[in-house]
Amino acid sequence: MAEWAAIEGLSIAIDGPSGSGKGTVATLLADEIGVPVLDTGLLYRLTGSAALQRGLSLDDEQAVAALVDVLLDEIVWTIDGIFLNGKNVTAELRSETVGAAASCVAAMLSVREKLLALQHKLAKEGCVMDGRDIGTVVLPDAPAKFFLTASLRERARRRWAQLKNQEDNSLESVLAELKVRDQRDAERQHAPLKQAADAICIDSTTMRADDVVDRMLGVLQRRKLITALR
Ligand code: DC
Repeated sequence: MAEWAAIEGLSIAIDGPSGSGKGTVATLLADEIGVPVLDTGLLYRLTGSAALQRGLSLDDEQAVAALVDVLLDEIVWTIDGIFLNGKNVTAELRSETVGAAASCVAAMLSVREKLLALQHKLAKEGCVMDGRDIGTVVLPDAPAKFFLTASLRERARRRWAQLKNQEDNSLESVLAELKVRDQRDAERQHAPLKQAADAICIDSTTMRADDVVDRMLGVLQRRKLITALR
């Protein structure tokens, strides 16, 4: 239940690499301040997953961009996830295979441009939005931006713990895959993973998610973006 009231239309950007905890923290923070949370990685995951299913080459920007047009007509993206033909497909998009494909299609400019409009539309009413380029590209005027990070090993450990029951992955293979994905996301030409100049960086390596959220709440309160409800 919300413990804080947010100013009308408040949007908060949370960026960071895979496994930095941004999804968990974004959900907790949004709950505390009573605003919707939007996970933008799902859009890239959906595109990557659909491209794999259709046997498209993950180098074929034209084909993948055309696929995005089709997907945008078919999906509904809400705070509960992505719905395809009325079915919530979010859980199916969480695998490492889909994550790797998402990272490939996310490097394509035309794909990013097509997905940007939808992100702007949903963010209009205010939200906590997490991704890689929220503070730099999607919501450059957000009054609060956070860049969440953690050591590579700790991020791999978190991903591995999440995936343990779903896929047969060793910690070392998750770490190696994460390294490749970090590099691809940070070195791509368009909207790379980068801390916005006015973002606050939080290293969560040794922090619990609740402590990260408390630190964020402190920033929002000092900036008069939220007030305590009791
Ligand atoms: O956060 P995630 O693991 O669900 O993201 C999957 C991929 O999507 C990630 O490798 C990079 C890409 N992505 C992006 O380029 N921009 C975003 N705003 C969100 C995700």
